[in-house]
Amino acid sequence: MKTKKTALPGPKEIKKLEDKYLFQTYKRTEIYLSHGNGAYVYDIEGRMYLDLLAGISVNSLGYNHPRIVDVIDEQGKKLIHGSNLFYHQYQGLLAKKLTEISGMSRAFFANSGTEAMEAAMKIARAYGKSGKRKGKTKILSLKNSFHGRTLGALSITAQEKYQAPFLPLVPDVEIVEETTVAALKKAFSDDVCALVLEPVQGEGGVFPMKAAFMRAAREFCDRYDALLIADEIQCGLGRTGKWFGFEHFDVRPDVITLAKSLAAGYPLGAVLGNMKVAKVLTPGDHGTTFGGGPLACRLALEVISVIEDEGLIANSKKLGGYLMKGIREIGKKYATVGEVRGFGLMIGAELGSDAKEVFNRLLGKGIIANVTHDTVLRLIPPLVITKNQCDEFLEMLYAVLGNIESSRA
Ligand SMILES: Cc1ncc(COP(=O)(O)O)c(C=O)c1O
Repeated sequence: MKTKKTALPGPKEIKKLEDKYLFQTYKRTEIYLSHGNGAYVYDIEGRMYLDLLAGISVNSLGYNHPRIVDVIDEQGKKLIHGSNLFYHQYQGLLAKKLTEISGMSRAFFANSGTEAMEAAMKIARAYGKSGKRKGKTKILSLKNSFHGRTLGALSITAQEKYQAPFLPLVPDVEIVEETTVAALKKAFSDDVCALVLEPVQGEGGVFPMKAAFMRAAREFCDRYDALLIADEIQCGLGRTGKWFGFEHFDVRPDVITLAKSLAAGYPLGAVLGNMKVAKVLTPGDHGTTFGGGPLACRLALEVISVIEDEGLIANSKKLGGYLMKGIREIGKKYATVGEVRGFGLMIGAELGSDAKEVFNRLLGKGIIANVTHDTVLRLIPPLVITKNQCDEFLEMLYAVLGNIESSRA
């Protein structure tokens, strides 16, 4: 290795550096990650964790996947970045593959989820002004949604805790207060250019949309000539046991956003659109320096190919069902466990006020899970997780709930 050797900090020093030099935007759990393999990740002192969070739905292929490592090695030696002023071999290929698996027609590449949402919002506004449409500018989004943290994406993230410090946000966004047909009916008007939703709300607590609501969403969008935008950033790319979350419903969106697992942890976001929106952006309307670079696109092509070759969508469906069933069984013994919901390997278990305690105790036993929305244990493990690893988690969950109960007896 030809890199310059730098003395690396240990845990105490890392924390000290970050406390002193970083904007304090994160409440980190004190694990100091070093490397990983499959569904296991190790800290810098060699402790091993079974990872059921996958870097927040990013590491779908697990850690250290040989085909991903090879792409980084090969492409890293050739061309990492070239800019969107020139062509390279992988962006068109990736656009073709993504449009094929999604049924869309066009792609634009960004660097993150929030940027993919920004592009989708711009497409919505451009659509609302295109053709005979005269200034349809209103964007609808759902209560409890999460679409990102840049000002545009934040404007459609209908959670006060994220929005309040940064008001005023982008105008002409309206929140649909409930996921009911009646609420949709109330919100729609001729001014609406788009409705944005997550087919399975992730950060908001793992709430799959209801089929009737999704059908109504499609119908209202058609009736009012508005776009249906599916944020598949967390639930897309095999996570729910299908390529896309929307496929669980008999409904097709006009625009899809992707990021997270798309390039195996290398930053890449995408917005895909059907023929309705294929021409609404013209040269100069949108762009990015980094988005869709050769390394990112080649990685994404490899991710999709690995998902296909290793049958990871089927694995997600099978082991997701197995995990949900296992958690529900445990819930028969421990009343702490409430509703267990989700699709495939995107699972939320209601644990009420015990969620944080369960998370901490699992961590103590070498299991990384996640708590979202304060009360929900969220499991979004690598899609390469095995049945034995699922059993390992279920045994630990059972033990932890037992420990909590006996500590209160
Ligand atoms: C559904 C959804 N949309 C958008 C985002 C924002 O993505 P990013 O953090 O890459 O900007 C997230 C991130 O958690 C997400 O879960």
